[in-house]
Amino acid sequence: MKTRIDEIRNDFRKCLTDVDNQQALDEVYRLFLARKGQVASLYKKLGEISDSERPAAGKLLNQLKQELELQFNERRTTLRQDESGSNQLDITIPGRVPRIGREHPLTQTESRVVGIFNRMGFTVAEGPEIESEYYDFDALNTPFWHPARDKSDTLYLDNGHLLRTETSPVQIHVMEKRKPPIRIIAPGRVYRNDKPDASHSPMFMQVEGLYVDREVTFAELKGTLLEFYRQLFGEDTTVRFRPHYFPFTEPSAEVDVTCFLCGGLGCRVCKQTGWLEMGGSGMVDPAVLSGIGLDPEEYSGFAFGLGLERIAMLQFGLTDIRLLYENNLRLLSQF
Ligand code: DAH
Repeated sequence: MKTRIDEIRNDFRKCLTDVDNQQALDEVYRLFLARKGQVASLYKKLGEISDSERPAAGKLLNQLKQELELQFNERRTTLRQDESGSNQLDITIPGRVPRIGREHPLTQTESRVVGIFNRMGFTVAEGPEIESEYYDFDALNTPFWHPARDKSDTLYLDNGHLLRTETSPVQIHVMEKRKPPIRIIAPGRVYRNDKPDASHSPMFMQVEGLYVDREVTFAELKGTLLEFYRQLFGEDTTVRFRPHYFPFTEPSAEVDVTCFLCGGLGCRVCKQTGWLEMGGSGMVDPAVLSGIGLDPEEYSGFAFGLGLERIAMLQFGLTDIRLLYENNLRLLSQF
């Protein structure tokens, strides 16, 4: 009896593993578990066994029956799951909503800024992010002792190259290739040897502007930037120019705009000053023009450089520049 039980158990296992559709499963049931199946016929044989052995044999047989039924039911469940997965369409299951991508907030800000300057007649120019000292410093009239050249500020590469510290070298590339009138903006990444914190990032973005022609004046610089900020922050925005020093402009000025949040009254965003610092500007230094082969008596120009993150952070209400570079989808999908 015991040998026969083991045989049936093995046969059943083999048959069950071969099952791959409902029909085959029914067949297994018929062979083993139905009223005329192999298990039932063993129960009939119990009568032929001696009284002393019957209880033990009966127990083994009951165990076998339970075991086979359990395995059979499990296979029936998995078979149903397989079949509904492969060839049945359940139209009541809620659809999967695809996640829709969007432009990074910095890209959105860049497009807006570029759009405004485009409409004022500025076209986009580009330059390399790996520069020589000539383009990043020398051609921009930066004296050899200027602190910006220091290794603690600038990321130097091998053989005299560096990661550009500003977008200003694009001015030189453009003036080398084209004759005035020149009217360009150059958005792009710049690099500095800074430790990241809420307001610093070793890589960030600037937008450079350059206008060179005959008789370009400081008044045009003021008018251009005023119009730009009015379109960006609203009609009531005013601009303030504070005297400053940049090697490549003379005179130079830093540009502030009235705080768009409080309108100049003073608030948390402008640290109670009413003004927001936006960037640097000035009249292209005659030394830069002559260095590139343009006669400063004949031509003049203005230039400016703005921080893009600053604008994006103000627009989107961010207080930490690092948020723009962490690519956290939960944050980015809000803008
Ligand atoms: N390159 C300057 C900086 O990174 C910004 C700047 C100031 C650019 C004055 C200009 C300019 O074109 O005229 O700090």
